[in-house]
Amino acid sequence: VNSVALRHRRQPRNIVFSMSVPSLLVLYGSQTGTAQDTAERIGRQAKRRWFKVRVEALDSYNVAHLISESLVVFVCSTTGQGDPPDNMKNFWRFLFRKSLPAGSLCRLDCAVLGLGDSSYPKFNFVAKKLHKRLLQLGASALLPVGLADDQHDLGPDGVIDPWLRAFWERALALYPPPAGLTPLSEDELLPPRYVFHFLDDVTENPPTQPEASDTDRPRPASQAHPFLARMVSNQRVTHASHFQDVRLIEFDITGSNIEFSAGDVVMMRPRNSSEDVEQLCQLLRLDPERQFTLSPAEGETVPAHLPQPCTVRHLLESFLDIASVPRRSFFELLAGFATNELEREKLAEFSSAAGQEELYSYCNRQRRTALEVLADFPHTTADLTVDYLLDLFPEIQPRSFSIASSLLLTMNRAISVLSSRHTPNRIQILVAVVKYKTRLHKPRKGLCSSWLASLDPTQGEVRVPLWVKKGGLKFPGDPESAVIMVGPGTGVAPFRSAIQERIAQGKNGNVLFFGCRSESKDFYCRLEWEEMERAGQLTLFTAFSRDQEDKIYVQHHVKEQAGLLWDLITNRNGHFYIAGNAKQMPAAVCDALKGVFQSEGGVSAAQAEDTLTAMERSGRFQSETWA
Ligand code: 2AM
Repeated sequence: VNSVALRHRRQPRNIVFSMSVPSLLVLYGSQTGTAQDTAERIGRQAKRRWFKVRVEALDSYNVAHLISESLVVFVCSTTGQGDPPDNMKNFWRFLFRKSLPAGSLCRLDCAVLGLGDSSYPKFNFVAKKLHKRLLQLGASALLPVGLADDQHDLGPDGVIDPWLRAFWERALALYPPPAGLTPLSEDELLPPRYVFHFLDDVTENPPTQPEASDTDRPRPASQAHPFLARMVSNQRVTHASHFQDVRLIEFDITGSNIEFSAGDVVMMRPRNSSEDVEQLCQLLRLDPERQFTLSPAEGETVPAHLPQPCTVRHLLESFLDIASVPRRSFFELLAGFATNELEREKLAEFSSAAGQEELYSYCNRQRRTALEVLADFPHTTADLTVDYLLDLFPEIQPRSFSIASSLLLTMNRAISVLSSRHTPNRIQILVAVVKYKTRLHKPRKGLCSSWLASLDPTQGEVRVPLWVKKGGLKFPGDPESAVIMVGPGTGVAPFRSAIQERIAQGKNGNVLFFGCRSESKDFYCRLEWEEMERAGQLTLFTAFSRDQEDKIYVQHHVKEQAGLLWDLITNRNGHFYIAGNAKQMPAAVCDALKGVFQSEGGVSAAQAEDTLTAMERSGRFQSETWA
C-alpha cells in the first residue's frame, strides 16, 4: 500500500500557466557550471511557487529586454582574477556602457547571488559590482547581494540556503501566486524539461554531431558549432618510467578558418568512457542504439550541439556528465523517485540542508561519480524515467587547454627540428594525464585528459570537436620588448606557442625558465629548446627538482639571474609571465622577482611590491595558473 501511495505521489502535476501567474527570469554567468546549477535550482523552486520561469545564460539573453522585465534573479560566479565568466562577457560590456540612462531599469525588481571563494583576493567581485550597477540604473533590490563562499563551513549552500529563503519571502510578498494556489512541496516531482520520443524502425545512422563543420561553408568554430579537427598525433613526451604521462597532441584544423595567437586556448568537450556508458545503459535498462527526439517543455530549447534524432549512446557518451561528482540537485531529484524505504531516507538526508556534511563525506571527499551513486541506489535507479535524464545530469562542460604551438611556425627556417615535422593549420597542446587516488576509493582519472590519452590516430581516423578562445596571456607586439617566461611542467605550453611565434616574427629577447623533476624523464621539448638556443633565439634556464638531493625550482634560477632580468625589465621593456599548476609556485616566483627588484634596483620590500603592482597594471606582469 505504502509503495502504491508513493508511486502515486511521484506523478508530476501538470502545471498549466495562465496569464495571471507572475513571471520570474533567472539569468546566470557560469564558468564551471555551478552558477548554472544554482540558477536551475532557483528555477525549480520558482515552479513550485507557481512562477512562470525562464532560466538563461546572460549572453544568450537579449539584454535590451531587461527594461521590460519585472523580476530577475542574477546568479554569477567570479573567476580567478576577478573577471566575469565567459558566458556573461557581452552582457558585462553592455551593462557598463556609459550611455545607459540612469533610470533605465526603474521597473525592475532584482536580486543578485554571487558564487565565489574568499581565499582569492577579489571575492565575489562580479556579483558586488553587478548589484551596484543595477541599483545605479534604477533597479530595486529585493534583498542585499548574496555572497556564497566555497570556504564556508557548509560550502556555498551555507550562504545560498538562507539567502534563498529570504528571497522567496520577499518575492512572494510582492508577487503572490493566484488565489487558492499554495506552493508544491519539495518532494513533489516537477515535470521534466524534455520528453523523449523513441523512434522505431530507424535504419539510417543518425548524425553524432549536429554538423560536420569541415564541409562546404566553414563558419568560425564555436561552442555551439565546434570544428571536427583530425587528430594527427598523440605522443607521450615523458619517459615510460616516469610517474606522469604527458602528451603532445596535434590536431589538423585545415578548412576551419580558426585563427589564434600565442596565449589563446583551445576548448573541447570530453566524452565519457564506453565502459561508463555501457554500465549506465544497464542500470537504466536502455538500449544504447535506440534513437529518439526531444520535445522541450515551455521555455526550454533543445541544446544546439545535441543532434536530432540522437542515439542513447551519443547522449550518454558526449552530452551528459555522468562521471563528475554529483551536486545536491541530483539527490533532490533522485529522492523524488525513491520508493525503497532505506534508499529514500538516505536520499532525503542528502538533499536536505542538514545532510550536507554527510553528503560531502559520501560524495566529494571520495570524488564519487554520479554513475557510482546510481549504482549505490539500485531500486531508485531502476525506477527512473528516461525523460528526467537531462534534469538529472548536467551537460559535460568544455575544458580548455593553452595552445602550445604557433601558426607562424613554418616561416622560421632556423628551427629544423620543428619545421621538418610541423605545418601551419595545426594546433598542438600539452596534456598531463590526470590520475590520482583518494582515501578508501579506487584510483580516479581526469575525464578529459584520460579521454584524450585513449585516442589513437594510428588505429584509424580520430576527430575531436573543438573551438578556440582568446586566452588571458597577451604578448607584446613591439619587436624590441623582451619576454621572460616562467613555466614549469605543462605551464610551458603557452610559452612554447609564444616562443615559436616570436621567433617567426624575428623577435629576440626570449627568456624561458622551465622546471621539471628530472632531466632524463620529463624534460619535454628539449631538442627544440636546444636548437633555438644554438640559433641564439632563446635563453633557457632549467630547474630539475629531483636530480639532486636538494630541490631546485624555477624561482631559484630567477633569483640567480637577477642581473639579466633587471637589465631586460629596465632596458628592454621586459614583460614577465608565469604559467603552471604548482600551487605554491606562482607566489614563490613573485617573491623571487620582488627580490630581483630589491637586490638590483636597491628598493625596499614595499617599493618592490609597488613595482610589481605597476607592472601588472600595465600588462607587463601576467600569470595564468590552474589547480
Ligand atoms: P617537485 O614535484 O619535485 O616538487 C613541474 O611540476 C615542476 O614543478 C616539478 O619539478 C615540481 O617539483 C615543481 N614544483 C613543485 N612545487 C613547486 C613550487 N612550489 N615552486 C616551483 N616549482 C615547484
